[in-house]
Amino acid sequence: MKIAFFSCQPYEQPFLEAANSNHRHQLTFLPQALTPETVHLAAGHQAICVFVNDHLMRPTLQVLADRKIRLVALRCTGYNQVDIVAAQELGIHILRVPTYSPHSVAEHALALLLTLNRKTHLAYQRTNQNNFTLDGLMGFDLWGKRIGIIGTGKIGQAFARIMLGFGCHVLAYDKVRSAVFQQLGVEYLPLNELLSKADVISLHCPLTPETHHLMDAAALARMKPGAYLINTSRGGLLDTPAVLTALQSGQLGALGMDVYELEDEFFFSDWSDKPMPDDDLNALTHSPNVLVTSHQGFFTREAMEQIARTTLNNLTYLEQQRFPADATVVA
Ligand code: NAI
Repeated sequence: MKIAFFSCQPYEQPFLEAANSNHRHQLTFLPQALTPETVHLAAGHQAICVFVNDHLMRPTLQVLADRKIRLVALRCTGYNQVDIVAAQELGIHILRVPTYSPHSVAEHALALLLTLNRKTHLAYQRTNQNNFTLDGLMGFDLWGKRIGIIGTGKIGQAFARIMLGFGCHVLAYDKVRSAVFQQLGVEYLPLNELLSKADVISLHCPLTPETHHLMDAAALARMKPGAYLINTSRGGLLDTPAVLTALQSGQLGALGMDVYELEDEFFFSDWSDKPMPDDDLNALTHSPNVLVTSHQGFFTREAMEQIARTTLNNLTYLEQQRFPADATVVA
């Protein structure tokens, strides 16, 4: 079948082509994001494949349905970018990649935390200029600190195991308690208690109406003064202006963010030769105690192989009208 891959970066193509050798679909790689303006590029294809910042809201889904394109594969885990009700009403089938490498994201959360704590990003800039001083670079031992994990699914669990290995006390909050998590020796707490006790909070829950702006001014005020916040989940979990205020006052000690609420316009693009129109993002990228990465938590060789493999399998399932009855199905 002919499949249009939206938002497809050159580094993804070899993985997708290799995974396709078992399927022999016809793949069209498009750099454009899927929007109501670009959806016409899907014409002539039987299916489309999209990524995290391609919006599958009703107007776009309607155009797809009008063109008789009813098969969509997400090459990602999160599906907050999909209007599920509209997809179901229009008879559009959507599959996702429910799991690939939870380690890729958990290890990236660790990278953000270690960098911010031990200030290796600042040390690198200094030693590059033959400045070998240490003032301002002091960190803290992670050993013995309390790490609060919000969302104890696959990535939260991988992150918990890492932090337990560092000798940390791991605290957790989730709507559903995981027996595996408890066996690891993790302590589940009510959200407010976790917020007030943790030295570091790492977010690993999905973006839903319930978790939208989970970290707002009230939640930030409940945190231990100077605690660190790591967000590798979805940008909409943070109320960015409130986070900036908390950083300025010192209530928030540091922020590591791999995702940003308004990332669609900026992430995966080179803005280095243009003025940055987003003042909040500009303030964040220029704060020494903030580390911004552009949604690269998933970006390891192992994760890319698995994403490509599952995506091509999903596309073949869609073609054969075999819809798995598991977490793969979005709509
Ligand atoms: P998962 O489905 O295994 O775990 C999510 C956990 O969050 C579940 O235990 C669920 O009960 C919990 N949860 C749901 N609503 C909650 C709420 N209101 N409060 C507290 N907990 C709640 O998902 P997984 O694979 O661990 O991924 C987590 C998130 O990581 C994804 O939803 C996605 O947004 C993000 N992600 C980011 C990537 C990146 O490259 N930065 C790559 C992959 C995923």
